Amino acid sequence: MKTALKLSAVAAALCVSAAVQAQSNAPIKVGLMLPYTGTYAALGNMIENGFKLYVQEQGGKLGGREIQYFKVDDESDPSKGTDNVNKLIKRDQVDVLVGTVHSGVALAMAKAARENDTLLIIPNAGADAITGPMCAPNIVRSSFSNWQPGYAMGVVAGQRGHKRAMTITWNYAAGAETVKGFREGLEKGGGQVIRDLTLPFPNVEFQALLTEIAAQKPDAVYAFFAGGGAVKFVKDYAAAGLKGTIPLYGPGFLTDGTLQAQGPTAQGLETTLHYADNLDTPRNNSFRKNFAITYKANPDVYAVQGYDAAQLLGAGLNAVKGDISKRDALTSAMRKTVVDSPRGKFTISKAGNPVQDIYLRVAKGENNEVKAVAVKALADPARGCKM
Ligand code: PHB
Repeated sequence: MKTALKLSAVAAALCVSAAVQAQSNAPIKVGLMLPYTGTYAALGNMIENGFKLYVQEQGGKLGGREIQYFKVDDESDPSKGTDNVNKLIKRDQVDVLVGTVHSGVALAMAKAARENDTLLIIPNAGADAITGPMCAPNIVRSSFSNWQPGYAMGVVAGQRGHKRAMTITWNYAAGAETVKGFREGLEKGGGQVIRDLTLPFPNVEFQALLTEIAAQKPDAVYAFFAGGGAVKFVKDYAAAGLKGTIPLYGPGFLTDGTLQAQGPTAQGLETTLHYADNLDTPRNNSFRKNFAITYKANPDVYAVQGYDAAQLLGAGLNAVKGDISKRDALTSAMRKTVVDSPRGKFTISKAGNPVQDIYLRVAKGENNEVKAVAVKALADPARGCKM
């Protein structure tokens, strides 16, 4: 009897350890919450392709674990953000969330990630608050804060002696925050923003606003639009006779992934961003080559950010040998890593945002070509982050 009891105890223990073993060999569940429809659809696809390219380059595994994907189309709709992120957290029980593009949706994701203590890697959305007052150990960004490229463009515009600028953008967090960064940089150089123009996201009826710009005749215009909206805006700006008359600046999203569709209307436009297509480094060249072979298309900044989101996750998982339950060790490794990005090496700030060079670029042919480093190793001020 005693022996029988002992044997069944041993059998039970073996079962438990087999279950633990199976779990630790199970794939890591990655929840991709991205826009696959609407004005930002192309951006979502680029991010997914970039992420998967890095995983593929690692033989399909990160930290020795297979990766299993779960997908939700967030439609860039903030009102559906909480429901959508809960599909991944509660229904699919993902280990890590990767998303999204739109700042308003990302704010809902960050709130849910904090409440559920789910790991979140943001491959685009720049919402300043996420690496500001909402900063948390389990949230890291592979992209930028809205303030970063805006501030750099303001510095450049100030250096060029522009005194009176107007801004135009969609009326939501990303637009408001990038304009704030631009204003801060411009004022440092002695210029000022005389008027801010906005329209609701994702509207593209620019005509009345362009008429207003023509009437005010500022020294420069700063515009944030992206994806399909950026294509339409740049075309309309030229059609209104403003191109070549009033310099048009913007964060690089204005011309990234859009040059083919914008055609001649975008040629010569100068923007600031943490990536430029023709950065002539072995890292960028091999990334672009592998991307083109895999997807028969050229990558853009969104693909880079997706690729680097996977690099960040890989750095975390490698540090814990794939044991995602070792959360503290994993997140601290993600934050300590130096990411060898196609954009150039970057580090992660205490608040979880990339500290990175911001380039001044010019649109030439189908590339956004680097002209200079606008601001070196720019760190977001992370106002309100207590960590
Ligand atoms: C944002 O909403 O934060 C956003 C969207 C598209 C971009 C950049 C930022 O290209």
